[in-house]
Amino acid sequence: MRIEPASFVRGSFTVPGDKSISHRAALIGAMASGKTRVRNFSSAADCASTLACLRGLGVAIRTEGQELVIEGGLSSWRAPAAVLDAGNSGSTIRMLAGALAGRPFRATLTGDASLRKRPLERVATPLRAMGASVETTDGCAPLTVVGGPLRGFAHDLPVASAQVKTAILLAGLQAEGRTTVREPMASRDHTERMLVAFGVPVERNGLSASVTGGTPLHATTVTVPGDASSAAFLVVAALVRPDSEVRLEGVLLSPTRTAFVEVLRAMGGRVETELHETEPEPVGTIVACSSTLRGTRVDPDLVPSLIDEVPALAVAGAFASGELEITGASELRYKESDRIAALASGLQALGVPVRELPDGLVVTGGAQLHGASVDSHDDHRIAMALAVAALGATGPTEIARGECVSVSFPEFYGHLARATGRG
Ligand code: S3P
Repeated sequence: MRIEPASFVRGSFTVPGDKSISHRAALIGAMASGKTRVRNFSSAADCASTLACLRGLGVAIRTEGQELVIEGGLSSWRAPAAVLDAGNSGSTIRMLAGALAGRPFRATLTGDASLRKRPLERVATPLRAMGASVETTDGCAPLTVVGGPLRGFAHDLPVASAQVKTAILLAGLQAEGRTTVREPMASRDHTERMLVAFGVPVERNGLSASVTGGTPLHATTVTVPGDASSAAFLVVAALVRPDSEVRLEGVLLSPTRTAFVEVLRAMGGRVETELHETEPEPVGTIVACSSTLRGTRVDPDLVPSLIDEVPALAVAGAFASGELEITGASELRYKESDRIAALASGLQALGVPVRELPDGLVVTGGAQLHGASVDSHDDHRIAMALAVAALGATGPTEIARGECVSVSFPEFYGHLARATGRG
């Protein structure tokens, strides 16, 4: 993928349906009895992987006009005839493992080369403690689950993870008694909110969430807001280029996902949000304009609420005065790539001084970027971050394996072309 420098970034855009919420709508819809309708389901390849896995379990899913229709009901799930392929999607493999823990059959899940390197014991260990048989391959995929009768339990997550929290809650709905998950820091709460929309009470108490096994899930209609993480790249693009303004309508504004907006504001970014709805999720408009940015130190307590936006924030840091320091983010080393290393090498190639830390990075802003050949490491968010940085470089940038943006935001390069007057 070749990115030319851009003198402005302007326009009104819609981003695809939120990836995290789309996965959950499909999965919880497949568990709930009755017909669940999902509007604005994500166009991301990751969400298509979730649908493919659910179809492999015998769930009927079809498109009707603009809606996805899921004929759900856990009792209709069948042992898959083949290995289920989660593709690049950590959310699919981890959350589905939780749902499968209560199903009385064997299912094997795997994924692409990147997913097969990512840690799965964090989800396997609690599911085993609940009574499921879960085998990993040296801690990674392929992962085989033989589900069965589960007992509810209380689990303290060593690391905040919405995927693992979700897996335990979905297993807990099929367990005897009550299941509680406690997190060290707040992660995204889409599952807790969505379970309530499907008729399941979730007791939330500070950093813990509890469900009672056997509570039935009832099909409903879910409207998926625009993806906050996709929006972050267009927001940063507008902040770092002159004469720029982007307007993004219908975007998820959950505080568990928009800490990047707080950080950008602390950096001097002109980012306005307008809340239009609050239930079942906060949704509204984001407007971002060209800004004079300065570095900041990101509070490590905010990291779970901006973990997927670190690549976009690092680019903002490259165009700021002073240093942007992000720590407490060692989880980034276990994402679709080692994002700390991939960001450091990609931004350095473009001329940005970056210091890698074990659990984060320090980006020194203010250098003139120059076009270069960089590598996405087959990681969608690295590709998008480098593309946004390249808009402010002198000369064109080539991003190797840049097409991986389709994992979360297939429309990204089209939007960027239109915003920069080339579409
Ligand atoms: C996600 C949770 C986060 C995030 C991922 C999506 C989710 O991962 O990085 O992109 O939808 O629950 P972890 O659960 O590993 O923190």
